[in-house]
Amino acid sequence: MNKIQKLGLAILVSTAALAFGHGSVTPQPVDTKGLENLGKEWLEENPYKGNKTAIEIGEHAYSENCARCHGLGAVSGGIAPDLRYLEDNIDGDEWYMERIRGGAVRNGNVYMPPFEGVLNQEAMWAIRAYLITLPKD
Ligand code: HEC
Repeated sequence: MNKIQKLGLAILVSTAALAFGHGSVTPQPVDTKGLENLGKEWLEENPYKGNKTAIEIGEHAYSENCARCHGLGAVSGGIAPDLRYLEDNIDGDEWYMERIRGGAVRNGNVYMPPFEGVLNQEAMWAIRAYLITLPKD
């Protein structure tokens, strides 16, 4: 390898570190195998509350898709709301689904990207099932 090739390699490696150093930025597919299929109709209430498989899938899906803004273990670093404090009831379910599906886009600014079409309904409720297991402090 000559000097220029070495330099090129070094630059490649450091950009990769930059892109992946803080968790993935592109949405990550979630394997929801093992969960009851929910069909196409959007549900109003979390069908997986207390479901162990869902909670495990949800924890992984959260880390891959949400933690970079909402914090590891949903302990917010201040960039985005602390999701441990969402109400653990059907109102909380409704608000959660509205947000995760539509994201938060105002005046052309994307505060949170929409996840509808990226994650399936099963993955969305699995994340919710995980979030409500977290201690509030
Ligand atoms: C790019 C950063 C980013 C990512 C990624 C992201 N969010 Fe958000 N989220 C935000 C911000 C910022 C807000 C506050 C939006 C506002 O100001 O209206 C928010 C708001 C929310 C809310 C409403 C919270 C409340 O207290 O009102 C929920 C629920 C939520 N996000 C869930 C998720 C979930 C679940 C994921 C992963 C699938 C996720 N978000 C990924 C940035 C993000």
